[in-house]
Amino acid sequence: MSGLFERLRGELEAMQGQGVYKRLVHLDSPQAAVVKIEESGGEVINLCSNNYLGLCNTPAVVEAGRAAYEKYGAGTSSVRFICGTFTLHRQLEEKIAEFLGLESALTYVSCWNANTGLMPTFLEEEDALISDELNHASIIDGVRMTKAQRKVYKHSDMKELEQALKDTAGARHRFVITDGVFSMEGDICRLPEILELAEKHDATVAIDDSHATGVLGATGRGTPEHFGLHGQVPVVTSTLGKALGGAAGGFTAGPEALTDYLTQRSRPMLFSNALPPATAAHSLAAVRYLDEHPQLVQKLRQNTAYFRENLQEAGFKPIPGETPIVPIIIGETAEAIRMSQMLLEDGVFVIGFGYPVVPQGTARIRCQISAAHETEHLDAVLDAMKKVGAKLGIV
Ligand SMILES: Cc1ncc(COP(=O)(O)O)c(C=O)c1O
Repeated sequence: MSGLFERLRGELEAMQGQGVYKRLVHLDSPQAAVVKIEESGGEVINLCSNNYLGLCNTPAVVEAGRAAYEKYGAGTSSVRFICGTFTLHRQLEEKIAEFLGLESALTYVSCWNANTGLMPTFLEEEDALISDELNHASIIDGVRMTKAQRKVYKHSDMKELEQALKDTAGARHRFVITDGVFSMEGDICRLPEILELAEKHDATVAIDDSHATGVLGATGRGTPEHFGLHGQVPVVTSTLGKALGGAAGGFTAGPEALTDYLTQRSRPMLFSNALPPATAAHSLAAVRYLDEHPQLVQKLRQNTAYFRENLQEAGFKPIPGETPIVPIIIGETAEAIRMSQMLLEDGVFVIGFGYPVVPQGTARIRCQISAAHETEHLDAVLDAMKKVGAKLGIV
Protein backbone atom coordinates (compact mmCIF):
# COMPACT_ATOMS: atom_id res chain seq x y z
CA MET A 1 0.00 0.00 0.00
CA SER A 2 1.33 3.48 -0.80
CA GLY A 3 2.26 5.82 2.03
CA LEU A 4 -0.88 7.85 1.44
CA PHE A 5 -3.30 4.99 1.91
CA GLU A 6 -1.31 3.59 4.83
CA ARG A 7 -1.67 6.95 6.55
CA LEU A 8 -5.42 7.01 5.89
CA ARG A 9 -5.80 3.44 7.20
CA GLY A 10 -3.89 4.42 10.34
CA GLU A 11 -6.10 7.46 10.95
CA LEU A 12 -9.24 5.37 10.41
CA GLU A 13 -8.01 2.83 12.96
CA ALA A 14 -7.31 5.65 15.40
CA MET A 15 -10.89 6.92 14.94
CA GLN A 16 -12.18 3.44 15.69
CA GLY A 17 -9.98 3.23 18.78
CA GLN A 18 -11.33 6.58 20.02
CA GLY A 19 -14.94 5.54 19.41
CA VAL A 20 -15.52 8.41 16.94
CA TYR A 21 -15.69 6.34 13.75
CA LYS A 22 -19.01 6.78 11.93
CA ARG A 23 -20.66 3.59 10.76
CA LEU A 24 -23.23 3.97 8.00
CA VAL A 25 -26.62 2.53 8.82
CA HIS A 26 -28.44 1.05 5.84
CA LEU A 27 -32.18 1.58 5.59
CA ASP A 28 -34.15 -1.07 3.81
CA SER A 29 -37.41 0.85 3.57
CA PRO A 30 -38.52 4.37 2.57
CA GLN A 31 -37.94 7.35 4.85
CA ALA A 32 -40.90 7.43 7.25
CA ALA A 33 -41.71 7.59 10.97
CA VAL A 34 -40.63 3.94 11.25
CA VAL A 35 -37.82 2.52 9.10
CA LYS A 36 -36.29 -0.90 8.62
CA ILE A 37 -32.59 -1.17 9.33
CA GLU A 38 -30.65 -3.65 7.23
CA GLU A 39 -28.01 -4.41 9.89
CA SER A 40 -30.49 -5.45 12.58
CA GLY A 41 -33.29 -6.50 10.26
CA GLY A 42 -35.67 -4.72 12.62
CA GLU A 43 -37.91 -1.67 12.58
CA VAL A 44 -37.00 1.44 14.52
CA ILE A 45 -38.52 4.88 15.02
CA ASN A 46 -36.73 7.38 12.84
CA LEU A 47 -35.69 10.47 14.76
CA CYS A 48 -32.90 11.75 12.54
CA SER A 49 -34.37 12.41 9.12
CA ASN A 50 -34.96 15.79 7.49
CA ASN A 51 -38.24 14.34 6.21
CA TYR A 52 -39.98 17.10 8.16
CA LEU A 53 -43.35 16.83 6.45
CA GLY A 54 -43.30 13.11 5.69
CA LEU A 55 -43.37 13.81 1.95
CA CYS A 56 -40.56 11.36 1.04
CA ASN A 57 -43.09 8.58 0.90
CA THR A 58 -46.30 10.44 0.11
CA PRO A 59 -48.01 8.71 -2.86
CA ALA A 60 -48.68 11.94 -4.84
CA VAL A 61 -44.97 12.84 -4.61
CA VAL A 62 -43.65 9.38 -5.47
CA GLU A 63 -46.12 8.97 -8.32
CA ALA A 64 -45.05 12.28 -9.89
CA GLY A 65 -41.49 10.94 -10.10
CA ARG A 66 -42.65 7.70 -11.68
CA ALA A 67 -44.64 9.60 -14.32
CA ALA A 68 -41.59 11.77 -15.08
CA TYR A 69 -39.44 8.68 -15.66
CA GLU A 70 -41.92 7.53 -18.23
CA LYS A 71 -42.18 10.88 -19.94
CA TYR A 72 -38.55 12.08 -19.77
CA GLY A 73 -36.40 8.99 -19.11
CA ALA A 74 -33.69 8.67 -16.50
CA GLY A 75 -31.62 11.80 -16.82
CA THR A 76 -30.63 14.99 -18.58
CA SER A 77 -27.31 13.63 -19.90
CA SER A 78 -26.12 17.18 -20.16
CA VAL A 79 -25.56 20.41 -18.28
CA ARG A 80 -28.38 22.95 -18.33
CA PHE A 81 -27.07 25.32 -20.99
CA ILE A 82 -26.27 22.61 -23.50
CA CYS A 83 -29.38 20.47 -23.70
CA GLY A 84 -30.04 19.57 -20.06
CA THR A 85 -33.01 21.84 -19.36
CA PHE A 86 -36.44 20.23 -19.47
CA THR A 87 -39.83 21.93 -19.39
CA LEU A 88 -40.14 20.37 -15.96
CA HIS A 89 -37.21 22.45 -14.70
CA ARG A 90 -38.96 25.64 -15.79
CA GLN A 91 -42.22 24.53 -14.13
CA LEU A 92 -40.39 23.72 -10.90
CA GLU A 93 -38.47 27.00 -10.89
CA GLU A 94 -41.64 29.04 -11.54
CA LYS A 95 -43.42 27.19 -8.73
CA ILE A 96 -40.55 27.74 -6.25
CA ALA A 97 -40.41 31.46 -7.08
CA GLU A 98 -44.17 31.80 -6.61
CA PHE A 99 -44.03 29.80 -3.34
CA LEU A 100 -41.37 32.11 -1.91
CA GLY A 101 -42.87 35.33 -3.28
CA LEU A 102 -39.69 36.07 -5.25
CA GLU A 103 -39.15 36.96 -8.89
CA SER A 104 -37.36 33.83 -10.05
CA ALA A 105 -35.54 30.66 -9.04
CA LEU A 106 -32.76 28.52 -10.44
CA THR A 107 -32.32 24.86 -9.50
CA TYR A 108 -29.11 22.87 -8.98
CA VAL A 109 -28.48 19.20 -8.17
CA SER A 110 -28.00 20.20 -4.54
CA CYS A 111 -28.15 23.16 -2.20
CA TRP A 112 -24.43 22.52 -1.73
CA ASN A 113 -24.03 23.51 -5.37
CA ALA A 114 -26.43 26.44 -5.01
CA ASN A 115 -24.36 27.84 -2.12
CA THR A 116 -20.91 27.23 -3.57
CA GLY A 117 -22.15 28.51 -6.93
CA LEU A 118 -23.54 31.74 -5.47
CA MET A 119 -21.05 34.18 -3.92
CA PRO A 120 -17.93 33.31 -5.98
CA THR A 121 -19.91 34.02 -9.15
CA PHE A 122 -20.52 37.73 -8.67
CA LEU A 123 -18.43 39.00 -5.73
CA GLU A 124 -14.92 40.21 -6.58
CA GLU A 125 -11.91 41.72 -4.80
CA GLU A 126 -13.60 45.10 -4.32
CA ASP A 127 -16.63 43.51 -2.58
CA ALA A 128 -17.15 42.20 0.97
CA LEU A 129 -18.79 38.98 2.13
CA ILE A 130 -20.05 38.71 5.71
CA SER A 131 -21.01 35.33 7.17
CA ASP A 132 -22.28 33.89 10.50
CA GLU A 133 -19.66 31.61 12.10
CA LEU A 134 -22.14 28.73 12.39
CA ASN A 135 -23.29 28.79 8.77
CA HIS A 136 -23.52 25.46 6.99
CA ALA A 137 -20.35 23.91 5.52
CA SER A 138 -21.54 24.63 1.98
CA ILE A 139 -21.72 28.35 2.77
CA ILE A 140 -18.31 28.20 4.43
CA ASP A 141 -16.85 26.59 1.30
CA GLY A 142 -18.64 29.18 -0.87
CA VAL A 143 -17.12 31.94 1.28
CA ARG A 144 -13.65 30.38 0.98
CA MET A 145 -13.97 30.24 -2.79
CA THR A 146 -14.90 33.93 -3.07
CA LYS A 147 -12.24 36.53 -3.81
CA ALA A 148 -14.04 39.31 -1.89
CA GLN A 149 -12.89 40.62 1.49
CA ARG A 150 -14.36 38.19 4.07
CA LYS A 151 -15.66 38.73 7.59
CA VAL A 152 -17.11 36.11 9.91
CA TYR A 153 -19.24 37.32 12.83
CA LYS A 154 -19.89 35.49 16.09
CA HIS A 155 -23.05 33.40 15.90
CA SER A 156 -26.12 35.67 15.69
CA ASP A 157 -24.16 38.54 17.25
CA MET A 158 -25.73 41.66 15.77
CA LYS A 159 -23.08 43.96 17.24
CA GLU A 160 -20.36 42.02 15.44
CA LEU A 161 -22.42 42.01 12.25
CA GLU A 162 -22.82 45.77 12.40
CA GLN A 163 -19.11 46.19 13.09
CA ALA A 164 -18.31 44.03 10.04
CA LEU A 165 -20.63 46.22 7.96
CA LYS A 166 -18.88 49.35 9.23
CA ASP A 167 -15.43 47.86 8.65
CA THR A 168 -16.28 47.14 5.03
CA ALA A 169 -17.85 50.52 4.29
CA GLY A 170 -15.56 51.11 1.32
CA ALA A 171 -16.56 47.94 -0.52
CA ARG A 172 -18.44 48.11 -3.83
CA HIS A 173 -21.05 45.57 -2.63
CA ARG A 174 -21.56 44.02 0.79
CA PHE A 175 -23.26 40.65 0.93
CA VAL A 176 -24.47 39.12 4.21
CA ILE A 177 -25.24 35.41 4.30
CA THR A 178 -26.81 33.36 7.09
CA ASP A 179 -28.58 30.09 7.65
CA GLY A 180 -32.31 30.64 8.26
CA VAL A 181 -32.35 27.79 10.79
CA PHE A 182 -28.94 26.63 12.00
CA SER A 183 -28.68 22.93 11.37
CA MET A 184 -26.72 21.86 14.43
CA GLU A 185 -28.31 24.23 16.98
CA GLY A 186 -31.85 24.37 15.67
CA ASP A 187 -32.07 28.11 16.36
CA ILE A 188 -33.51 30.71 13.97
CA CYS A 189 -31.42 33.59 12.61
CA ARG A 190 -32.29 37.11 13.78
CA LEU A 191 -33.74 37.99 10.41
CA PRO A 192 -35.55 41.28 11.16
CA GLU A 193 -32.40 42.76 12.72
CA ILE A 194 -30.18 41.43 9.93
CA LEU A 195 -32.44 43.01 7.30
CA GLU A 196 -32.55 46.26 9.21
CA LEU A 197 -28.76 46.44 9.51
CA ALA A 198 -28.36 45.55 5.85
CA GLU A 199 -30.75 48.32 4.87
CA LYS A 200 -28.92 50.82 7.07
CA HIS A 201 -25.54 49.87 5.57
CA ASP A 202 -26.71 49.26 2.01
CA ALA A 203 -25.88 45.54 1.99
CA THR A 204 -27.67 42.58 0.34
CA VAL A 205 -28.92 39.69 2.47
CA ALA A 206 -29.07 36.01 1.50
CA ILE A 207 -30.42 33.22 3.67
CA ASP A 208 -30.00 29.47 3.33
CA ASP A 209 -33.42 28.21 4.37
CA SER A 210 -32.70 24.48 3.98
CA HIS A 211 -34.03 23.61 7.45
CA ALA A 212 -36.86 26.17 7.30
CA THR A 213 -38.47 25.59 3.90
CA GLY A 214 -41.61 23.58 4.56
CA VAL A 215 -41.00 23.98 8.29
CA LEU A 216 -41.30 27.58 9.47
CA GLY A 217 -44.17 30.01 8.92
CA ALA A 218 -47.88 29.17 8.93
CA THR A 219 -47.68 27.66 5.44
CA GLY A 220 -44.08 26.43 5.45
CA ARG A 221 -42.65 29.25 3.37
CA GLY A 222 -39.71 29.47 5.72
CA THR A 223 -37.88 31.96 7.92
CA PRO A 224 -39.19 35.07 6.12
CA GLU A 225 -42.79 33.92 6.63
CA HIS A 226 -42.03 33.08 10.28
CA PHE A 227 -41.12 36.73 10.87
CA GLY A 228 -43.90 38.22 8.70
CA LEU A 229 -41.31 39.06 6.04
CA HIS A 230 -42.48 36.78 3.24
CA GLY A 231 -40.87 37.75 -0.06
CA GLN A 232 -38.70 40.41 1.58
CA VAL A 233 -35.33 38.64 1.76
CA PRO A 234 -33.59 39.43 -1.52
CA VAL A 235 -31.86 36.04 -1.97
CA VAL A 236 -32.98 32.65 -0.65
CA THR A 237 -31.16 29.37 -1.19
CA SER A 238 -32.63 26.09 -0.02
CA THR A 239 -32.67 22.36 -0.55
CA LEU A 240 -35.18 20.04 -2.14
CA GLY A 241 -33.56 17.19 -0.22
CA LYS A 242 -35.27 17.75 3.12
CA ALA A 243 -38.92 18.79 3.66
CA LEU A 244 -39.78 19.15 -0.03
CA GLY A 245 -39.84 15.46 -0.96
CA GLY A 246 -36.32 14.68 0.18
CA ALA A 247 -35.04 13.39 -3.16
CA ALA A 248 -32.21 15.84 -3.86
CA GLY A 249 -31.65 19.25 -5.39
CA GLY A 250 -31.38 22.83 -4.33
CA PHE A 251 -32.07 26.28 -5.61
CA THR A 252 -31.29 29.96 -5.47
CA ALA A 253 -34.28 32.30 -5.61
CA GLY A 254 -34.26 36.06 -6.00
CA PRO A 255 -34.34 38.82 -8.61
CA GLU A 256 -34.21 37.70 -12.23
CA ALA A 257 -31.00 39.68 -12.71
CA LEU A 258 -29.38 37.33 -10.20
CA THR A 259 -30.70 33.99 -11.47
CA ASP A 260 -30.03 35.02 -15.07
CA TYR A 261 -26.45 35.98 -14.14
CA LEU A 262 -26.01 32.65 -12.31
CA THR A 263 -27.29 30.86 -15.41
CA GLN A 264 -24.55 32.56 -17.40
CA ARG A 265 -21.69 32.26 -14.93
CA SER A 266 -22.28 29.97 -11.93
CA ARG A 267 -19.80 27.09 -12.22
CA PRO A 268 -22.00 24.23 -10.88
CA MET A 269 -24.63 25.43 -13.36
CA LEU A 270 -22.22 25.52 -16.30
CA PHE A 271 -20.22 22.39 -15.56
CA SER A 272 -22.54 19.92 -13.82
CA ASN A 273 -25.69 18.11 -14.88
CA ALA A 274 -29.19 19.36 -14.13
CA LEU A 275 -31.57 17.78 -11.63
CA PRO A 276 -32.76 14.41 -12.96
CA PRO A 277 -36.33 14.78 -14.27
CA ALA A 278 -37.85 12.39 -11.73
CA THR A 279 -36.22 14.38 -8.93
CA ALA A 280 -37.52 17.65 -10.37
CA ALA A 281 -40.98 16.08 -10.59
CA HIS A 282 -40.91 14.83 -6.97
CA SER A 283 -39.95 18.31 -5.85
CA LEU A 284 -42.61 20.06 -7.90
CA ALA A 285 -45.24 17.65 -6.58
CA ALA A 286 -44.00 18.24 -3.02
CA VAL A 287 -44.33 22.04 -3.27
CA ARG A 288 -47.81 21.68 -4.76
CA TYR A 289 -48.77 19.17 -2.06
CA LEU A 290 -47.59 21.52 0.66
CA ASP A 291 -49.57 24.36 -0.91
CA GLU A 292 -52.70 22.20 -0.67
CA HIS A 293 -51.94 20.73 2.79
CA PRO A 294 -50.62 23.51 5.06
CA GLN A 295 -52.01 21.48 7.99
CA LEU A 296 -48.86 19.34 7.73
CA VAL A 297 -46.86 22.31 8.99
CA GLN A 298 -49.25 22.65 11.93
CA LYS A 299 -48.84 18.97 12.77
CA LEU A 300 -45.05 19.32 12.64
CA ARG A 301 -45.31 22.28 15.00
CA GLN A 302 -47.57 20.39 17.44
CA ASN A 303 -45.29 17.33 17.39
CA THR A 304 -42.26 19.52 18.04
CA ALA A 305 -43.89 21.32 20.98
CA TYR A 306 -45.03 17.98 22.47
CA PHE A 307 -41.57 16.42 22.16
CA ARG A 308 -39.66 19.43 23.48
CA GLU A 309 -41.99 19.79 26.49
CA ASN A 310 -41.88 16.13 27.46
CA LEU A 311 -38.13 15.87 26.93
CA GLN A 312 -37.61 18.71 29.38
CA GLU A 313 -40.04 17.16 31.85
CA ALA A 314 -37.97 13.98 31.67
CA GLY A 315 -34.94 15.98 32.83
CA PHE A 316 -33.11 16.53 29.54
CA LYS A 317 -31.86 19.99 28.65
CA PRO A 318 -32.19 20.36 24.88
CA ILE A 319 -30.92 23.57 23.30
CA PRO A 320 -34.02 25.79 23.72
CA GLY A 321 -35.93 26.73 20.62
CA GLU A 322 -39.05 26.13 18.59
CA THR A 323 -37.80 24.29 15.50
CA PRO A 324 -38.02 20.52 14.94
CA ILE A 325 -34.22 20.27 15.33
CA VAL A 326 -33.83 19.36 19.00
CA PRO A 327 -30.15 18.92 19.97
CA ILE A 328 -29.05 17.60 23.36
CA ILE A 329 -25.42 18.45 24.13
CA ILE A 330 -23.53 15.43 25.48
CA GLY A 331 -19.95 16.71 25.33
CA GLU A 332 -17.51 14.09 24.07
CA THR A 333 -17.99 12.62 20.59
CA ALA A 334 -17.51 9.01 21.75
CA GLU A 335 -20.21 9.49 24.41
CA ALA A 336 -22.71 10.91 21.90
CA ILE A 337 -22.04 8.02 19.52
CA ARG A 338 -22.43 5.55 22.42
CA MET A 339 -25.78 7.08 23.36
CA SER A 340 -27.03 6.84 19.78
CA GLN A 341 -25.96 3.17 19.64
CA MET A 342 -27.80 2.42 22.89
CA LEU A 343 -30.91 4.18 21.58
CA LEU A 344 -30.75 2.18 18.36
CA GLU A 345 -30.69 -1.01 20.42
CA ASP A 346 -33.82 0.33 22.12
CA GLY A 347 -35.60 0.94 18.82
CA VAL A 348 -34.80 4.62 18.23
CA PHE A 349 -32.68 5.76 15.31
CA VAL A 350 -30.99 9.06 16.20
CA ILE A 351 -27.49 10.19 15.37
CA GLY A 352 -24.73 11.49 17.61
CA PHE A 353 -22.78 14.36 16.02
CA GLY A 354 -19.23 15.12 17.02
CA TYR A 355 -16.11 16.86 15.77
CA PRO A 356 -15.54 17.96 12.97
CA VAL A 357 -19.28 18.42 12.26
CA VAL A 358 -19.60 20.43 15.50
CA PRO A 359 -16.84 22.05 17.64
CA GLN A 360 -14.80 19.82 19.99
CA GLY A 361 -16.49 19.20 23.34
CA THR A 362 -20.00 19.99 22.05
CA ALA A 363 -20.94 16.58 20.64
CA ARG A 364 -24.64 16.07 20.65
CA ILE A 365 -27.60 13.89 19.93
CA ARG A 366 -29.69 15.70 17.32
CA CYS A 367 -33.35 14.71 17.41
CA GLN A 368 -35.46 15.71 14.42
CA ILE A 369 -39.22 15.71 14.54
CA SER A 370 -41.50 15.08 11.58
CA ALA A 371 -45.17 15.52 10.77
CA ALA A 372 -45.00 11.80 9.94
CA HIS A 373 -44.64 10.99 13.66
CA GLU A 374 -47.72 10.11 15.68
CA THR A 375 -47.92 10.69 19.44
CA GLU A 376 -47.26 7.01 20.13
CA HIS A 377 -43.96 7.22 18.20
CA LEU A 378 -42.88 10.23 20.24
CA ASP A 379 -43.95 8.57 23.51
CA ALA A 380 -41.90 5.46 22.65
CA VAL A 381 -38.89 7.66 21.88
CA LEU A 382 -39.29 9.52 25.17
CA ASP A 383 -39.42 6.22 27.11
CA ALA A 384 -36.24 4.99 25.42
CA MET A 385 -34.49 8.32 26.00
CA LYS A 386 -35.36 8.25 29.71
CA LYS A 387 -34.02 4.70 30.03
CA VAL A 388 -30.77 5.37 28.15
CA GLY A 389 -30.33 8.81 29.74
CA ALA A 390 -30.58 7.24 33.21
CA LYS A 391 -28.05 4.50 32.32
CA LEU A 392 -25.59 7.14 31.13
CA GLY A 393 -26.23 9.41 34.11
CA ILE A 394 -27.55 12.26 31.93
CA VAL A 395 -30.95 12.44 33.68
C1 LIG B 1 -28.23 24.59 6.00
C2 LIG B 1 -27.90 23.62 4.91
N1 LIG B 1 -27.54 24.10 3.71
C3 LIG B 1 -27.24 23.29 2.69
C4 LIG B 1 -27.28 21.93 2.83
C5 LIG B 1 -26.92 21.06 1.66
O1 LIG B 1 -28.09 20.63 1.04
P1 LIG B 1 -28.03 19.54 -0.10
O2 LIG B 1 -28.14 18.21 0.55
O3 LIG B 1 -29.19 19.87 -0.99
O4 LIG B 1 -26.73 19.73 -0.81
C6 LIG B 1 -27.66 21.37 4.04
C7 LIG B 1 -27.70 19.90 4.20
O5 LIG B 1 -27.33 19.32 5.17
C8 LIG B 1 -27.97 22.24 5.12
O6 LIG B 1 -28.31 21.75 6.31
